Amino acid sequence: MENKIQDEINSRRTFAIISHPDAGKTTITEKLLYFGGAIRDAGTVKGKKSGKFATSDWMEIEKQRGISVTSSVLQFDYDGKRVNILDTPGHEDFSEDTYRTLMAVDAAVMMVDSAKGIEPQTIKLFKVCRMRGIPIFTFINKMDRQGKEPLELMEELEEVLGIQSYAMNWPIGMGKEFLGIYDRFNQRVELARPDAEERFLPITEDGGLAVEHPMTETSYYKQALEDVMLLNEAGNDFDEERIAVGELTPVFFGSALTNFGVQTFLETFLQFAPTPQPRKTREGEDVEPESEVFSGFIFKIQANMNPAHRDRIAFVRIVSGHFDRGMTVTVPRLSKNFKLSQTTQFLADDRETVNEAVAGDIIGLYDTGNYQIGDTVIGGKANFQFEALPQFTPELFVRVSAKNVMKSKQFHKGILQLVQEGAIQYYKTLHTEEVILGAVGQLQFEVFEHRMRAEYHVDVQMETMGSKVARWIENEEEVKESMAGQRALLVKDRYDRKVFLFENDFAMRWFQDKFPDIKLYNQL
Ligand code: G4P
Repeated sequence: MENKIQDEINSRRTFAIISHPDAGKTTITEKLLYFGGAIRDAGTVKGKKSGKFATSDWMEIEKQRGISVTSSVLQFDYDGKRVNILDTPGHEDFSEDTYRTLMAVDAAVMMVDSAKGIEPQTIKLFKVCRMRGIPIFTFINKMDRQGKEPLELMEELEEVLGIQSYAMNWPIGMGKEFLGIYDRFNQRVELARPDAEERFLPITEDGGLAVEHPMTETSYYKQALEDVMLLNEAGNDFDEERIAVGELTPVFFGSALTNFGVQTFLETFLQFAPTPQPRKTREGEDVEPESEVFSGFIFKIQANMNPAHRDRIAFVRIVSGHFDRGMTVTVPRLSKNFKLSQTTQFLADDRETVNEAVAGDIIGLYDTGNYQIGDTVIGGKANFQFEALPQFTPELFVRVSAKNVMKSKQFHKGILQLVQEGAIQYYKTLHTEEVILGAVGQLQFEVFEHRMRAEYHVDVQMETMGSKVARWIENEEEVKESMAGQRALLVKDRYDRKVFLFENDFAMRWFQDKFPDIKLYNQL
């Protein structure tokens, strides 16, 4: 491979920011864009998110700024690196797509609200990252507000998430008394309210400030120094290899809103975030980014990007090689060739036609209904498929039927296609074969209903079943229908595997106590 392309690939850093709603993901994204030169000032984006099909928090930035931040992927350059940030929508936009996006990144940044600690959505997203063994960097946000004690937050990371941590820096005070951070990694103190140009103060070998400063007299500084000494003695060691495999998370404290600690975070993150990583084929072989062959996989299909055209865009994570506009690719599932002339890449200042992209980048292919989530696309003559994307355990369920029974053929066709595409999960009751749909987020049902009407001309009737705990069964042959009941519904999935839908965790535990021989398991 040419050196130039190799250098291009090595400059890529592709990651997602994971967090619970309101932790500050949109705010920090905006600050990162500002450092990347994509927007002019670092003010804040205010206002409530709106729009049923606004599938990205970034659309808010887009509206406020009058710039075109397309949903889903942002790209900017910083310090010789090309940064790709993939959106993981939260709020009511949370869906399986959010999980699948994590299959397309090489690292994750976990945003934590210092007052709230580790919240439910963060735990879910974290688990998916953990399963992949990708590095996870933690940013503890809102230090300009009164929050939990930093040591308590570090403990929470280890106890709730089960990941070890290394504090890259440590806050000096918080809230109104937030004076700055003690930067262990860069051996300096960064002041929150610097006088004149004095933003960084150096630290000596023994850990104290190398210069005189009134801050050293404050109880906040003394406390921070004491905590840092404790971490030096009893905390984990900084270990790049353990960070790379997701066993140790580097932790940064800061405030996205006041733009404090964000640039230091970005620079340190880019230093340790991985270059594009290889992916496995179904045969278990690694496809290296430097491979001559262009290859990638589709991790998301977004409909209704442009309501006027009813277009769909298939998002491809490039795994290897180099993409040129107009090239022909094969989709092995279909044994079919496609000429990729209509493609798009995602830059913060404009949604541009992409002419070139390399491993690590994300490109969007205009789709008229050919592609499916999980599809492999390959240039040239090679023929392989990447490992299947995992199926995630849904939590929300609805019973669904066509309003008009005469439309039942279109109804089943639409469901089949949307299920194959990965938009929604399919289940059915054992004998009556009533259709039950499962999702990880409510938005999936709304999109389903909308697309059934728009694309298949079927009005559907949905009866909510609420949230359920879904469990598959290792020893299906042992299951008797009499074990099922109101609180433990027995259904089949699209592969005809039996699945219990429990009313809640309590009902599941009760079942396990009563039928200890039935081995239940969870998908991701
Ligand atoms: P999200 O994308 O993760 O959902 O969070 P977002 O950035 O929208 O931030 C949620 C709220 O938290 C926003 O308040 C934002 O200004 C605030 N926020 C983000 N970072 C910080 C920080 O470092 N310090 C403080 N004090 N606040 C921060 P908002 O727009 O006023 O929303 P709301 O209060 O109306 O919910």
